[in-house]
Formats: sequence, C-alpha cells, structure tokens
Amino acid sequence: MTRLITGGTGFVGSELANRLVEQGDKVVLFDISPNINAVKKIKDKITIIRGDLSNWSEVFNVVKEHNIKSIFHLGAMLSIPADVNPWAAYRVNADGTLNILEAARLFDVEKVIFTSTTAVYAGYALPINESTIQKPESMYGITKLFSENLGRFYFKKFGLDFRVIRYPTVIGLGARTKHMSQYMSWMIENSLSNNPFDVWVNEDTRNPCLYYKDAVLALLMIHDAPSQNIKTRVYNLAGISLTAKEFVDEVKKHIPSAKIAFKPDPEIVKLMGKGFGFIDDTCAKKEWGWRMRYDMKSMLEDIKSESESKINYKS
Ligand SMILES: NC(=O)c1ccc[n+]([C@@H]2O[C@H](COP(=O)([O-])OP(=O)(O)OC[C@H]3O[C@@H](n4cnc5c(N)ncnc54)[C@H](O)[C@@H]3O)[C@@H](O)[C@H]2O)c1
Repeated sequence: MTRLITGGTGFVGSELANRLVEQGDKVVLFDISPNINAVKKIKDKITIIRGDLSNWSEVFNVVKEHNIKSIFHLGAMLSIPADVNPWAAYRVNADGTLNILEAARLFDVEKVIFTSTTAVYAGYALPINESTIQKPESMYGITKLFSENLGRFYFKKFGLDFRVIRYPTVIGLGARTKHMSQYMSWMIENSLSNNPFDVWVNEDTRNPCLYYKDAVLALLMIHDAPSQNIKTRVYNLAGISLTAKEFVDEVKKHIPSAKIAFKPDPEIVKLMGKGFGFIDDTCAKKEWGWRMRYDMKSMLEDIKSESESKINYKS
C-alpha cells in the first residue's frame, strides 16, 4: 500500500514518514522544498518528489504515477507565512486541498487524512468542542476551515473517505517554520542550548499543545480506524492546556538554567487573539480510541533525552 504525505519533509510529516516506513508501508513524500536531512534515516526507503500543491498537474501526477492508496495531507503554509503572503496561502492551502481531493477522487485513493488546526476557532477563549462556532480571522484559519468543509463536501457528494484532525500546537525539537505558537518548541530548544529566549505572546495567553509523537500517533490511529467508527469526521484533539506563563514555569522546572523572558509581539498577539479555551476531544476518544500518551512532564523528559542524543535536530 503506497501512502503519500504532502509536506512530507516538514516537522510532523517527516516523523510520520519514519513511522510508516517502520510499519512496512511504501511512502512517497511530496514537498515544495524537500528537507532531506529531516528524513535521512529512511532516505533509501522512501521516494521524495519536489512539487507544489497549488499546481494541480504536479499533484495529479504524483498520485497517479505512484498508485497512491491513502494521502496524509499535511503540506501547508502555516500561520505566520500565511499572514505575510495571504495570496500564496490561499493557493497552497485552499486550492492545494482542492487539488488533493480531486486527485483522490479521480485516481481511486481510498482515504485522505487532513491536518487542520485549533486556529479555526480564532482565539476562542471559552471551552471548545466540535459544535463551537468557527470564525477564523487569519488566512491560515480561513483556508484550513475551507479545506475541512471542502473535504466534507467530497465525502457527501463522492463518498471520498476524508478524515480530519485539528491539532493544537505541536511541540518537539527540529520544527523550523515560525508560526504563532512556535515559541513553545523554540523556548525549550533554546533553553536546552543555554540560549536566552523571548516569548512573543502575553503571559496569560492560553494555548494547548501536543507532543509530536502523539501528533503522529493520532494520524496513524485515525487512518486505521474502521469507516463505520468515523461519525464526526473532523476531530479536535485537546492536548495539554496551559497559559504561556504556566508553560514557562514548567519548562523552568525541568531546565532550571532556562533564561526566558516575555516580550509580546503586537502582530502575533493580534493573530493569537485571547488564546484558546479548554478543548474537548471526547469524539476522538469515543470513535477511534484516542488517548494522549505524553503529559507535560513526560514530554519534557523525552525532549531532554532526544536533545542529549541529538535525535531530531533536523537541519
Ligand atoms: N506545527 C504545529 O504546531 C501545527 C499545529 C496545528 C496544525 N498543524 C498542521 O500540521 C501540518 C504539518 O505542520 P508542520 O508543523 O509539520 O509544518 P512544517 O512547516 O514543518 O511542514 C509543512 C511542509 O509543507 C511544505 N509545503 C509548504 N508549501 C507547500 C506547497 N505549496 N507544496 C508542497 N509542499 C508545501 C513545506 O515545505 C513543509 O515541509 C500542517 O498542515 C499544519 O497546518 C501544525
């Protein structure tokens, strides 16, 4: 069975590629700017195609040529790049998803798994569940919500098995794209290297997060869940909910030498709004057995041991 990962050499995509290869799948990575270093351990076992999601012929070609059976659609422009160039973000995130769904429909792909984001809730600071109103204000959130709804349409109209996970902030070493909540990973990474770090949001900004190993586990679980279990189709994941100040305190507990200060950036504060309320992920738990394995403590311990063994410094 050949799996396609769009954005396959990115932070989450490269870890997913490792796990799929480990379980014996054939894997094709599609990325506009392949970071070979991120997948160096498996480079002889995968196919990497340089291509642009917004170019439909490149997308159709990779799906047809490689007889793809499922697609993990992770390729995207994240919050800050999308804010800097909203027009490009529209083409990549919105048109790119249409191209993926059309390719899936035309070339008999069995499943499309899409990574959306809590940003579709636009800084909604009250408790959030799948029925909470979505009024994103960023191009990132708008294009992700559009993609979710487009996929629902493809399911209803054409029966395409489309499944979505809405991630909170994904944390780990080796993330390179700056996005609005990337301060969480970079604060840890800099503290481990003994560098000072300025947090660009306010102390009371609440933002949930999830360890990257759990983020990949969720993709594998939702992919493998039997179709009859997938009722909600678009699922929130709760992650670990902390304010920026609480997060910093936890990091300092584990890395006492950390030199972290708050220096809010007005542009990013505007993007984050009031932060995000507690997220309910009962539907993912009930329908496909979701359980997060890493809490804050075990996540930080794992990151420390990865850092000592230099695992996941990808570039
Ligand atoms: N990292 C997070 O905190 C987070 C949170 C919520 C949702 N997500 C979603 O998870 C997915 C993976 O995120 P990530 O952290 O791995 O991001 P990333 O930036 O590390 O990876 C995205 C990859 O997409 C590729 N890409 C960008 N434009 C492309 C195009 N036009 N054509 C082909 N490839 C293109 C990039 O080169 C990159 O390798 C994204 O869809 C993102 O929106 C991530």
